[in-house]
Amino acid sequence: MTDSPAPVVAVIVVAAGSGSRLGHSEPKAFVDLVGRTLLERALRSVFGMREPAQVIVVAPEERLGAARYIADSVAGAFGDIVHVVAGGPSRQDSVNRGLAVVRPGVETVLVHDAARALTPSALCDAVVDAVRATGHGIVPGLAVVDTIKRVDGRGAILGTVDRSALSAVQTPQGFPLDMLVAAAAAATGEATDDAAVVTAAGYPVTVIAGDALAFKITTPWDLRRAESLLLAGPATVGSPSPDSIPVDGGARGAGDPRVGTGLDVHAFDDASSLWLAGLHWPGERGLSGHSDGDVAVHAICDALLAASGLGDIGGIFGTSDPAYAEAHGEVFLRETVRRVTEAGFRVGNVSVQIIGNRPKLAPRRTEAEALLGALLGASVSVTATTTDALGFTGRGEGLAALATAMVFPVTAEHPVLSWEA
Ligand code: CTP
Ligand code: MG
Repeated sequence: MTDSPAPVVAVIVVAAGSGSRLGHSEPKAFVDLVGRTLLERALRSVFGMREPAQVIVVAPEERLGAARYIADSVAGAFGDIVHVVAGGPSRQDSVNRGLAVVRPGVETVLVHDAARALTPSALCDAVVDAVRATGHGIVPGLAVVDTIKRVDGRGAILGTVDRSALSAVQTPQGFPLDMLVAAAAAATGEATDDAAVVTAAGYPVTVIAGDALAFKITTPWDLRRAESLLLAGPATVGSPSPDSIPVDGGARGAGDPRVGTGLDVHAFDDASSLWLAGLHWPGERGLSGHSDGDVAVHAICDALLAASGLGDIGGIFGTSDPAYAEAHGEVFLRETVRRVTEAGFRVGNVSVQIIGNRPKLAPRRTEAEALLGALLGASVSVTATTTDALGFTGRGEGLAALATAMVFPVTAEHPVLSWEA
């Protein structure tokens, strides 16, 4: 964006919730949906907007690193930049933290739930257009199809609500920036959307036609519905938009897949600190090696290179090349993906198993998967095992990792789609 004029639209993507109703061990925005996290899918839709916008991701404090990787990888693919800030205890706090970093020059601000991961880019464009045309708040909404009852605390029906007067509202919700800032400053109490804050402050907000694909992923059932829609393909999900393309599951549409395996081993070295699966592990014993000794990343690179018929990691990243001294996984993975792509393949999915006694992977598994997945643009599974105290890993002398990668040839018939590049 260095050569483009400063954006006049900002989109705040709120992704800092825990997702308690979804019931996953990690925050909802970092849950996998057919090979990409909800956050990545939501961002692909936002970056697919017609007009460049300042994009602000509001993420949980403890996931800022993973959010940064995901955001940078999506923004990079669109030649753009993105801000990442920590969220607050309520959705409204998170929105306010995003608002605090809106750039000068922005006139229209959209607030969007990362949980509405399949929202078409066209809906974001329509909200921007309507805010400009009316000069006030705009929210997408759908007619309510169920008959709605008012009930008391015990379930006894008190009455039927006239559904023709109801709208089930979605995001992105758009406002003139000044209006949202003033309303947020005047807000008292909690609201579950921004229109409530803005109307409470006395400003007008209008509903425009929403999109069924902008449904919010709240429960496990919603997640399964989103999976089914993606796996059914673009025809089901609608016009091509960045979030609507089956990715790794998309063996359909690509040439015959090829697999490769990779194994790597490094000894522990108490003088260094541990880098594993692309993450830094403070307090854990490090691994020896010319680079950072990240066995998981090295095994993945070997598997990808083997699947693409490109030899092995030693032949590409020389063990004495000063360019790779102390290099972290990101460097190896980016260069490997570049070569795999250059050779005419795209990454399907990758699975890597780490073999050793420590560190305990489980608490950071999803963080590792999100980070590696964002770097590869594909689904990555990271697992771990011990060897029942046998062998060098059992004796705590080092770590091993074994990876399997699948790649698909890109043919003229099945090109890499521009938004997947
Ligand atoms: N959100 C946020 N900060 C919070 C709470 C929610 O940024 N403190 C975001 C969520 O990440 C989500 C959106 O607001 O993208 C809509 O909220 P919701 O669907 O309720 O998500 P969660 O609060 O994460 O889920 P739950 O209510 O089930 O815990
Ligand atoms: Mg919530």
